[in-house]
Amino acid sequence: MTSAASGIGPGGRTGGRSGAGAGKTRTRTRQVPDREATAIKLLDASVKHSFDPRVDVAWDEPWLPDTFFLPERLSTLYGTDLWERLSRSHRIELTRCELANNLAFGIWVETLFMQMLARHSLGYHPRSNHLRYALTELGDETRHSTMFSLMLDKLDRGPYPFNPLDRFATDLLRAFSTEPLAYVAVLFVEEMFDALQRYGLKDDTVQPLCRQTFRIHVVEEARHMRFARDELFRLIPRLPRVRREGLAAAVAVGVGLVSRSMRTPQMYADAGLDVREAMRAARSNREGRAVLQECIDRFTPVYDELGLITPASRALWRAQGWRV
Ligand SMILES: [Fe+2]
Ligand SMILES: [Fe+2]
Repeated sequence: MTSAASGIGPGGRTGGRSGAGAGKTRTRTRQVPDREATAIKLLDASVKHSFDPRVDVAWDEPWLPDTFFLPERLSTLYGTDLWERLSRSHRIELTRCELANNLAFGIWVETLFMQMLARHSLGYHPRSNHLRYALTELGDETRHSTMFSLMLDKLDRGPYPFNPLDRFATDLLRAFSTEPLAYVAVLFVEEMFDALQRYGLKDDTVQPLCRQTFRIHVVEEARHMRFARDELFRLIPRLPRVRREGLAAAVAVGVGLVSRSMRTPQMYADAGLDVREAMRAARSNREGRAVLQECIDRFTPVYDELGLITPASRALWRAQGWRV
């Protein structure tokens, strides 16, 4: 079994401090450029590095035989007794269904993000670069979700429904989220999927076509994370403490939602597994938990720096078995 040390993170690009200040709540410590300066930089980068998935992905290439669709370690069952009993071809089929599951969830959350971003963009000045970049990001996300949809066809698997309660929670988020909550939610989900896709694109046991789509997504998402991060460093310090506590709790709860989205019953049924056994194995899979913990370790330094890892939220994280 691969150990967590082979891992995904923590990423050094955020520059925050990990796990520091337990028991304390810190507010803004970072100076960021003003809104227009960030937007101009990101608009410039968008001109240089943007992709059209309909022409920049080799959709006509056939799948390579005997090749995984996700790195083995990212399978929800990797490291379990059930995984050990599966043949290599069955493991490959499982990763095919798991990728389809992740992409369908990706379309769901990106469409949700687009709605939130469009709603908040109504308040941005029509002649500002901040609005122009928000609209550019909306364009990126429409192309990403189109790419995920095309990949679902290519995989010929999925989509698989996820937990109705979690679906209801995201419905509330898209309809009622405040601007800081929208950016908080967008940023940590993007950070988690970015970590997983960076891991996947480096793995040459994975289908080249899958890695190509991971690469496109990683390049464009780097801009989205910068936009959300800078905006949060401007917005959060102005919020009263009670609202910061609410945001901190939302992140802790949201991580559980992302984790549950990765194991859906229909996905295991499609992969030819006993659903109850597979769900039980995935829920208690220590290796799967270690992978997600590495994703969490990448983004919590910034949330800590923003003052969004509080004593109360830390208790929530810990209650779910996460280390922050
Ligand atoms: Fe995206
Ligand atoms: Fe994004």
